[in-house]
Amino acid sequence: MSSIIEVTRAPTVAPSGAALGADIGAIDLNEALSPETVDAIQAAWASHLVLRFRGQERLTLENLAAFSQHFGALDKRPTASGAMSDEHDALPPAITVISNVKVGGKPLGALGDGEAVWHADMTYNERPPRGACLYAVEVPPAGGNTHFANMYQAYETLDPAMKSRIRGLRCIHDASRNSAGELRLGFADNTDPRHTVGASHPLVSVHAVTGRSCLLLGRRRNAYVVGMALEESEALLDALWAHATRPELTWTQVWKVGDVMMWDNSCTMHRRDAFDPSARRLMYRTQIAGAAVH
Ligand code: OGA
Ligand code: MN
Repeated sequence: MSSIIEVTRAPTVAPSGAALGADIGAIDLNEALSPETVDAIQAAWASHLVLRFRGQERLTLENLAAFSQHFGALDKRPTASGAMSDEHDALPPAITVISNVKVGGKPLGALGDGEAVWHADMTYNERPPRGACLYAVEVPPAGGNTHFANMYQAYETLDPAMKSRIRGLRCIHDASRNSAGELRLGFADNTDPRHTVGASHPLVSVHAVTGRSCLLLGRRRNAYVVGMALEESEALLDALWAHATRPELTWTQVWKVGDVMMWDNSCTMHRRDAFDPSARRLMYRTQIAGAAVH
């Protein structure tokens, strides 16, 4: 007689050793996750801010969406504008393609092959996303690495005078360009931060889940501290950005096929290195909806 003992294997958590980031192991994202496993991932996400799941090369796009949905409702990708290939428009509605690959002269996805400068995603909205998952299917042989920075530590390591100076200040986040620097449809090409169009948020925000304070910078271009003279706003933001993107606050993801990265968009920023335009990089992305910022 044989008996089957069900063993719920807890995922393993291996911190990167850097200011943020951990590898989650012993998990197959194609499988239905138990509530205990989801809780363990939530806890690891709260502690490490960016999670990496390696070896997921068999993951289907349906299961990438099902996995992501454990952490909140998913945003739909922007409606088809005709700028993207038909392949892109045929994907499940929660999936976006991040790729430089072109099909019939049209990009298969967003962000191209250039550098994406430091940013948090879509903070020019009143309710920026809570996070995102990015799944690598093709990676270039060199370049295209993604760097993450810890905005809790960026806040905590400010000197007390700066902390009290920025308490209560709000910043306007520019909606006119995407993280590859491209002008979005329907936006004027503004270069004066005093005329920036986008949501305003406190420079110091409180994370909706952890209750911890973090710096909320969003993106540097056209950012503007409400109520300040332009020169003063520029100098303050330059100082905060230099502080928040110091290498000791960052962790670098060197992609392998089958990697899934999941970042907390409220308390981290990220940027991507450029890569050889003749190399292929293909990633699928989901985005977890967020709440109003406090
Ligand atoms: C994003 C993003 C960076 C990358 O998907 O929001 O910034 O490495 N991606 O492709
Ligand atoms: Mn991004």
